[in-house]
Amino acid sequence: MSSESSAHSGTPASTLTVELPTDKELVLKVIPMPADCNANGDIFGGWVMAQVDLAGSVVPARYVDGRMATVAVNQFIFKQPVRVGDILSFFSCVTRIGNTSITVQVEVYAERFRSQGRYIKVTEASVTYVAIDDFGKPRKIVAPETPSVRQDTM
Ligand SMILES: CC(C)(COP(=O)(O)OP(=O)(O)OC[C@H]1O[C@@H](n2cnc3c(N)ncnc32)[C@H](O)[C@@H]1OP(=O)(O)O)[C@@H](O)C(=O)NCCC(=O)NCCS
Repeated sequence: MSSESSAHSGTPASTLTVELPTDKELVLKVIPMPADCNANGDIFGGWVMAQVDLAGSVVPARYVDGRMATVAVNQFIFKQPVRVGDILSFFSCVTRIGNTSITVQVEVYAERFRSQGRYIKVTEASVTYVAIDDFGKPRKIVAPETPSVRQDTM
């Protein structure tokens, strides 16, 4: 059992350990490096946001079938700090398909250095992407009927 504590709360890392989601797809794994740190020595939030933006686009790309752009970050929560050497796993699912936009939920889990196989939820976000045409204008999405797509209202 790791004796590591959560950076700011002092909560033992072992009490933060969770199961990985089974209703979302693993879309990205990445390990942050020292160059990605902020002045506190944790990983810079903007770096995490960029990874979430990339990870979140993976599932919508299958529906959009062409160019798309991020139109909105509806919610972004940094639940726990991300650290150098964490193995980050990004899970995603579609929560809404509109006329020209797709919204996804992204959850990020960290395996701390020397604590592989134990997952801490560090970030969750909701991001909306818009299918665009060659002129950068919104274009209609033809959404396939897929059981895994949840047509929730956001
Ligand atoms: C994305 C873009 C093409 C949308 O153009 P627009 O004229 O605002 O389009 P619309 O108002 O018709 O909205 C298009 C879709 O986006 C959705 N949308 C627009 N603003 C939104 C917001 N703030 N939050 C959530 N969804 C939003 C609309 O609901 C609509 O979805 P729907 O057709 O499924 O109902 C345009 O805003 C743009 O080019 N933005 C810059 C994108 C970019 O550079 N992203 C990278 C940022 S670094």
